[in-house]
Amino acid sequence: MGIKYFEDEKVFKLDSKDASYVIALVDEEQFAGHAYYGKKISDYHVRHLMRLNENPFTPSQNERERVSFNDLFAFEYPTFGVGDFRETCLKVRNKYGAAACSLVYKSHKIYAGKPALAGLPATFGSESECETLELTMTDPILKLDVTLVYTVFEDNSAITRSARIQNLAEDDIYLTNALSMCVDLEGLNYEMINLHGSWARERHIDRHPITHGKHRIDSSRGESSHQDHPFIAVMTPETNEDVGEVYGFNFVYSGNFMAQAEGCQFETTRVVMGINPDTFTWKLATGEEFICPEVVMVYSDAGLGKMTRSFHDLYRNHLIRGEYKDKKRPILINNWEATYFNFNTEKLLSIAKEASSLGIEMLVMDDGWFGKRNDDNTSLGDWQVNEEKLPGGLKNLVDEVNKLGMKFGIWFEPEMISPESNLYREHPDWAIQIPERTAARCRNQYVLDISRKEVRDYVYNMVKTVLQSSNIEYVKWDMNRPLSDLGSFALPADRQGELSHRYMLGVYEMQERLINDFPHLLLENCSGGGARFDAGMLYYSPQIWCSDDTDAIERLSIQQGTAMIYPLCSMGAHVSDCPNHTVGRSTPFRTRGHVALAGTFGYELDVTKIPAEDRAMIPEQVAMYHKYNDLVRTGDYYRIANYSENRTFDCYEVVAKDQSEALVTIVEVTRRANFKSRRIRLKGLQPDAVYENEDTKERYTGEILMYAGVQCPDTWGDYISNLMHFVKVN
Ligand code: GLA
Repeated sequence: MGIKYFEDEKVFKLDSKDASYVIALVDEEQFAGHAYYGKKISDYHVRHLMRLNENPFTPSQNERERVSFNDLFAFEYPTFGVGDFRETCLKVRNKYGAAACSLVYKSHKIYAGKPALAGLPATFGSESECETLELTMTDPILKLDVTLVYTVFEDNSAITRSARIQNLAEDDIYLTNALSMCVDLEGLNYEMINLHGSWARERHIDRHPITHGKHRIDSSRGESSHQDHPFIAVMTPETNEDVGEVYGFNFVYSGNFMAQAEGCQFETTRVVMGINPDTFTWKLATGEEFICPEVVMVYSDAGLGKMTRSFHDLYRNHLIRGEYKDKKRPILINNWEATYFNFNTEKLLSIAKEASSLGIEMLVMDDGWFGKRNDDNTSLGDWQVNEEKLPGGLKNLVDEVNKLGMKFGIWFEPEMISPESNLYREHPDWAIQIPERTAARCRNQYVLDISRKEVRDYVYNMVKTVLQSSNIEYVKWDMNRPLSDLGSFALPADRQGELSHRYMLGVYEMQERLINDFPHLLLENCSGGGARFDAGMLYYSPQIWCSDDTDAIERLSIQQGTAMIYPLCSMGAHVSDCPNHTVGRSTPFRTRGHVALAGTFGYELDVTKIPAEDRAMIPEQVAMYHKYNDLVRTGDYYRIANYSENRTFDCYEVVAKDQSEALVTIVEVTRRANFKSRRIRLKGLQPDAVYENEDTKERYTGEILMYAGVQCPDTWGDYISNLMHFVKVN
């Protein structure tokens, strides 16, 4: 690992664990150009990788063709308005209303450690774990500085990037685009993966070729969204799990984003990522600074699997924080699918009583405990306990739950306001809306203007009062609608375009306050299921509800797509009742347990009402969770088969970091007629070690398991799952 500057060659060379990234300065003009990103290389004469000595040469040699040069050169941080007609990162409107910017080298510094990004989520690392380059570029006419920040890690092949933009002029300017990163990759022949979805079917893996033109995915919904995800992988066409060059890009941000790969005219592919410019402008007053959120770039020379494992390690070690970072989470039971809004203390206690006797460790009371909320038409914003439902108040309920030996958790949706609420009657201007226009409702609610400090303070204090009233050890923070009708009553007209980003900064500030005030709290983010399952939220909550779809078969694709980037320890996954409430499918209780084992594990059903044989299986599942969770949470994840592709079965494996054990989960989704048993090849084992299958007691070398494979248990019927646990015996 390390970052070096070679003065004679004017080259910055960034080496992460397995990848190198090279930036070079153009001699006379002092533009910063991208020279190389890929497999780790030595330091020997890397400058020639920057494509300079070809027509139209640099402006100092051929001023006549400056536009041609600008439209060809691999700018490290391309700017709009001076002839680079590809996607650019920065667009600045100056005091004349015109937009042009051109950046040249000003200064740089290289230091151990990694700076925090004020007000934003970001990966972190100590001085011994990472090194940072700050490369400051400037536009001398605009008097605008842009500091590009890069960090490499000792234990990971990721490189992170962000940018700080500072207005040193005497006039205010407007940023109308401020992306976080750009990389120009050599060649055109790439494919792209993005994670597409919808409510209840988030993050399905979508793969397609990148041809000429722009291949853009984005969100303008005010959340990273169910539909598209702030991640793309750009890869060579032969790429599979184990082979191929992959560049993965993930945005550490939860609001509007764009991610784009652009096949350009001279056989290069430009990849950019950042805040979505469609819903963004920012007035940068004199002396002010704007910080572009972080992008994590992961290079893999060995397929998608290696990329995934780098992301998992980075996020487990350098993004997730707090008491539960490396800890097993309590097995919870959530009453949402059990009761919806129809519950009271007595009902919750009957669930808790039964659950605790089966080994479940925490009761989570979901939506419906406050104001007059007996359906989803009312009361968001009135965060006072409904004593008709909870006689004796919250403390009484929590104390009773605690007496059963269980922890207690609670649901909030702090960013929202119901038109039918006391809060709205008192402060209609606190909702996001545009004067003279009736804002569009969604789930019959509006979004609070969280960009405003007085709104944040008010709502946060209500939440805090509830949390201080009793022994609450878990919070589910929900957010159930996208942002529309973008208007803030607190912002002047020329700052209205800042609302979406200011909103996000407000949410981050509230969550930071929450985890500081309640350091022992387990926070789970949620957004109508998984609309805000992203790296930004992971900085505040070690787990996020993956999807409102709890069907075991639907979950295979959702969880596999989510685990493309995010570690299993972060995926909220529950066993629910059948027929499943979203798709009406019935699957065996055992299979539901095996599928939920891939995540944080819990239940979302009325345990007093489910079939007795299912209930009888819970203690077994609880034991299974306790036995395997350390491995699942901390191990290396390998995809073996993807049901979305083969339409027959799904399989993944988790291998302990020291290769001492491996757990394989296999779900036979549809049983084929006249089918001989299935053989699968494992991955990541120690070839010369001997492993024992804990069930069958058969012994195999790692070599045999990986190169020849192992027979899966035979199955009969659809939706049948099995675990295979291999333990190293010598
Ligand atoms: C969202 C969440 C659910 C549940 C409901 C409550 O849809 O994803 O888990 O909490 O809200 O209204």
